Amino acid sequence: MELVIEKMVQGGVGLSRLSDGRVCFVSQALPGERVRVALSREAKDYTEAKIVDVLEASPLRIKPKCPLYEKCGGCSLQHISLGSQVQFMAEMAKETFLRIGKTSLPDSFEVHHGEPWHYRHRARVFRGPEGWGFRAENSHRLISFDECPVLTQSLNEFLHQENIKKIRARELQLFDNGAGRVSYYYKGMTPEEQRLYSDNSVSVLDRSISMDASVFFQSNLSLLPTLVHRVRTLAFEGEWLIDLFSGVGFFASLLEDRFSRVTTVERDKYCLRHAKLNLKKSAEQVTAPAEQWLSENTMSAPAVLIVDPPRTGLPADALKAISEGQIQKLIYVSCNPVTLARDTLLLKNAGFQIKTVEGFAFYPHTPHLEMLLVLERG
Ligand SMILES: C[S@@+](CC[C@H](N)C(=O)[O-])C[C@H]1O[C@@H](n2cnc3c(N)ncnc32)[C@H](O)[C@@H]1O
Repeated sequence: MELVIEKMVQGGVGLSRLSDGRVCFVSQALPGERVRVALSREAKDYTEAKIVDVLEASPLRIKPKCPLYEKCGGCSLQHISLGSQVQFMAEMAKETFLRIGKTSLPDSFEVHHGEPWHYRHRARVFRGPEGWGFRAENSHRLISFDECPVLTQSLNEFLHQENIKKIRARELQLFDNGAGRVSYYYKGMTPEEQRLYSDNSVSVLDRSISMDASVFFQSNLSLLPTLVHRVRTLAFEGEWLIDLFSGVGFFASLLEDRFSRVTTVERDKYCLRHAKLNLKKSAEQVTAPAEQWLSENTMSAPAVLIVDPPRTGLPADALKAISEGQIQKLIYVSCNPVTLARDTLLLKNAGFQIKTVEGFAFYPHTPHLEMLLVLERG
């Protein structure tokens, strides 16, 4: 059937409507385009479709750079320039905040962006018959590649090394520190092997941060300093910095000089070894779920709370504790505008107001957007 695309919505897909009124999400379609599609999914109140033919193309459509664009699905926005992607990301975030968070983002809402290619310093690859590859989106199908244009050159070269090709693990986690060391981790490594092959350190602004390839670390190292700089500017001096979902103590290590008391809370016990190296001895480092720590501790007014949860957003118990507690200032770093919008609505109902909101295109060519939100009470 033929459809005309109204707009781009969350997930980077085009929205249209079928003649029976159901919405249809068309992947890789741009606003204003007339496309011939085949339905790939039919639910009661919505449908999904794939393009068979672009009948009238948007002037924004460009030729994707990667030969695996159709197969891999990892960079589903490669048919648009980064400049246009950033505009769409801003529009999608605004639409999501209005729909889910009942909140209008300001017209000035800005999405910072960096390099379009070779930006990704962290990757998870899987073993297939032809060597290491990615899993195709929403499937277990393995996509092998010679060169991935979003991975750093060092990661691409690393995967071609004979000793790395021979590793018999099913899955490999890689991290390129951007200064000559690529480290890797697979399940079953001994602690000694982990120290030799997985440990790494990254320089961010004026700090060297200890981490390893098995734990979380931001993957876009060229844009990361911009986010850190904004967080530093916005987290004015206070007495107590509480960094929840702290990973290896990332934000706390870059902010600790401004606070007399620092607490970090992270669930992954493997982060602690690094957090101990990254933070002053006086910092209190807790290995526990953030929601548990929040429900067992009282946060007094001069504390600044920074949260950086996974895609699922803040757990309900954490939201409840923050809403009922006395925190005045909350810095929320999020990798999912949908859960951020949901949590914003609840926090606004608990008396918080948005002071600052910015976007960071940490994952060019994908519809994912990192966001920084500062909320204050009173
Ligand atoms: C998006 S990462 C952020 C890490 C760190 N702030 C950084 O920038 O490197 C989210 C972190 O939250 C941790 N995590 C997930 N659920 C958690 C929970 N309920 N309580 C505490 N930490 C959690 C993960 O292990 C991960 O390290």
